[in-house]
Amino acid sequence: MGWRIMSIYLSAILLCVSAENKPNSPYEALQQYKFPAGLLPEGVTSYTLNESSGEFSAHLNGSCSFTLENSYELRYEPVMKGLISRGWLKKLSGVSVRVVLLWLDVVEVKRNGESLEFSVGFKSADFPVENFEECPRCGCGFDCGNGDGKVGVLGNWLSS
Ligand SMILES: *[C@@H]1O[C@H](CO)[C@@H](O)[C@H](O)[C@H]1NC(C)=O
Ligand SMILES: *[C@@H]1O[C@H](CO)[C@@H](O)[C@H](O)[C@H]1NC(C)=O
Repeated sequence: MGWRIMSIYLSAILLCVSAENKPNSPYEALQQYKFPAGLLPEGVTSYTLNESSGEFSAHLNGSCSFTLENSYELRYEPVMKGLISRGWLKKLSGVSVRVVLLWLDVVEVKRNGESLEFSVGFKSADFPVENFEECPRCGCGFDCGNGDGKVGVLGNWLSS
């Protein structure tokens, strides 16, 4: 592993600390199921996971939104829930994406190799897994250091 990769990896770990700093965090739980930690924003205050049924929930202090690839605005409600299995998070609730003026519920996230497919039921969009190695921060998302994290042009969620 090169140093650059290694340091990106280490900073991803450091950035994904949960508020309570438990050794076993929801971010680690996601990774056990082959999801990147950055599928959840920073600041999860508590979470539950039933390993036999796959029921997963994560709690935030408030709702949290940020932009993804300068195009999509994602929003997490204070409680997000779903059924998790290896590379497949289904029956999601509490996560939505803004498409033009509408907020649509993200119902499923699947890992297909090196991409993550977010589905709103009738449409889906793929994003590289590596974009989610760091946890997004509420407000500025993945781009907190550079740029102002404004919502850019609307993506092609519906036109793809
Ligand atoms: C959540 O809210 C409580 C009470 O307002 C506050 O003490 C705590 O620091 C907050 N946690 C995070 C992660 O923002
Ligand atoms: C976990 O899921 C199993 C299987 O659905 C269920 O029997 C069990 O009661 C659940 N445990 C908790 C703590 O909810």
